[in-house]
Amino acid sequence: MIDAASDRRPAPAGIGRGRARQCAWLGADGAQAQAGGVCEPGGWHEQGAGAGGALHHPGKDVSVCMERGISCKSLATGTCVRVDGTWRGSPGREQAAELAADRVSVLGACASEYAVQKKYHTPEFLRTIPHLRIASRGMPRVLQLRSQLTRLVQEFFTQEEFCQVQAPVITPSDCEGAGEAFGVTSTQEGASSKELFFGRPAYLTVSTQLHLEALAQGVARVWTMSPAFRAEKSQTNRHLAEFTMVEAEAAFVEDVEELMDLVERLVRYVLSKADLPLAHISEHRWPRVSYTDAVDMLAAEPAWTQPVVWGKALASEHEQWLCKRFNGPVFIFNYPRACKPFYMKSNDNAPERETVACFDFLADGLELAGGSLREHRHEQLCASLEAHGIQQLGWYVDLRRFGCPPHGGFGLGFDRLVQWLVGGHIKDVVPFPRSHNSLSL
Ligand code: 4AD
Ligand code: MG
Repeated sequence: MIDAASDRRPAPAGIGRGRARQCAWLGADGAQAQAGGVCEPGGWHEQGAGAGGALHHPGKDVSVCMERGISCKSLATGTCVRVDGTWRGSPGREQAAELAADRVSVLGACASEYAVQKKYHTPEFLRTIPHLRIASRGMPRVLQLRSQLTRLVQEFFTQEEFCQVQAPVITPSDCEGAGEAFGVTSTQEGASSKELFFGRPAYLTVSTQLHLEALAQGVARVWTMSPAFRAEKSQTNRHLAEFTMVEAEAAFVEDVEELMDLVERLVRYVLSKADLPLAHISEHRWPRVSYTDAVDMLAAEPAWTQPVVWGKALASEHEQWLCKRFNGPVFIFNYPRACKPFYMKSNDNAPERETVACFDFLADGLELAGGSLREHRHEQLCASLEAHGIQQLGWYVDLRRFGCPPHGGFGLGFDRLVQWLVGGHIKDVVPFPRSHNSLSL
């Protein structure tokens, strides 16, 4: 719950806590749940016995009362039905109207071994049946939230006069230079480079950033929401092999503060408009702490599993501590060059303490977004590429030769944003998650 005193994630929306599915085909009049109206909604029957029942259809559950001797006794939970009847005032407090059914027609039978029953199912169990998980209580809500957040992100960038673009998913480069890209091959190709489909190695994009940088040189402000792929073998609750990233790139940006402002405006915008149980969003700007100050704070604390050393990436335990220390989301900026990718702009400080103009945005210990000014100076970029042993980015270097403006951007993990808002594991906010050793459908 986000409130004035502490900006923390809202109470979990309850993924996996549910009993039966709530999304379904809806008959023509079913959307109007008004007393007196005639309707024929479609949905899935929830109870296996009794004269009445609950019907789940898009948006809300419907309580059904059987009229004139009709019974649902023989219907198994999960049976897809159409109910013809009349809405009438409901005595229950949870809903204004209930459906008095005249006729129940079975549209799709449900086998008795149906796994999603009217009881609590753990998220771990539901992950084992991804094809049926949409029938649980939580997943439809998650999908609706994802849909709403997508719309809000688009609304935000439109208001900020960013141009939405599409970047390629197949690329010849590993943008982050971390060696975590998946290769792309055709099923016919052999091993020699002559037989390679593209005539050279190809990869699934790890980030659209480099292409966005090229486009920002003509359109100035661009953004995209795109799948990104990482061949990381991590088994954490926040890593996927395929995830969705919101990325933006803006020309004529000379200060990393401007990028942090943009991320803060974006996150505040979606939080303030989304249909979430948020009490209040603090009006105070979220804290911005330099990496060096963060390391000093961490070093003053006694017990860490991972040592705190200037020049090394922060570990998850450090990021979690920083979020607790600041009681909400926090930006950490100006990391050492040694732990960040080649494209980040140097702050030109002493070589032994060289930092880059970048930031990570952390919330509840999760890295939600990362961004930086880009090294737009030709000479410095070439030196950085050489230091990282990267040879094949001639086109990217070329951009620095033809009127390259100072620029910068960021990537926000969309699934992590949803995870932060909903709670739990990242695999529970993505309908068909992909991760190391896990690709069931
Ligand atoms: O910090 P990352 O690696 O930054 C980039 O890729 C930049 N090129 C983006 C840019 O500047 N245009 O990734 C950005 C965000 C992370 O902060 C995190 O939220 C998310 O993407 N992310 C992942 N989410 C799920 N699973 C993974 N394996 C992720 N890796 C990164
Ligand atoms: Mg990062």
